[in-house]
Amino acid sequence: MAVLPIRLIGDPVLRTVCRRLSLDELRSEDVQEFIDDLIETMRDANGAGLAAPQVGRAVAIAAVQIADNPRYPYKPNFPLTVFVNPTVTAIGHETESLYEGCLSVPNLRGLVSRSMHVHIDALDRHGHSITLDVHGLTAGTFQHEFDHLEGRLFVDRVEDSSTFCTWDNFDRFHKTAFVQRAESIVQQYGG
Ligand code: NI
Repeated sequence: MAVLPIRLIGDPVLRTVCRRLSLDELRSEDVQEFIDDLIETMRDANGAGLAAPQVGRAVAIAAVQIADNPRYPYKPNFPLTVFVNPTVTAIGHETESLYEGCLSVPNLRGLVSRSMHVHIDALDRHGHSITLDVHGLTAGTFQHEFDHLEGRLFVDRVEDSSTFCTWDNFDRFHKTAFVQRAESIVQQYGG
């Protein structure tokens, strides 16, 4: 296993619509090793998730894992989930504005509107079908990773550019209020 270099905004791979994988390709040694590296890189960087294009491959694979994450201490824990060839469908119309950040967009955060309930159909890393219903902040995390597979970054979805801030200024000016709101979102939506 290896920690891979994380591609940064401006790299064309982050703007590519990712190719879906055949079962044979997914189960190949090369792709299975790549998935191990994706997970190791996500953990090394304290990401809540990481998508394949962020480490240079425009294939439809992403991982999410939240385990007492120091970058996002208000996010509830969520077990390691690798999802391949996903479709993500919003359930209902409830949305909330969440501060997002991204390992591919250093030192920037901004408010993004996300659906609070989403349904995911995908394959797991072994090619078995999985369905997930996720809620609240976790739903936001999955939508962020799914966007990467479509060549989109959170900065594309920030409607009010005055909400862009550095991580230090998030901590200084916005964290207290947002953490309170994040806690109420977790209570309300269960994620
Ligand atoms: Ni990201």
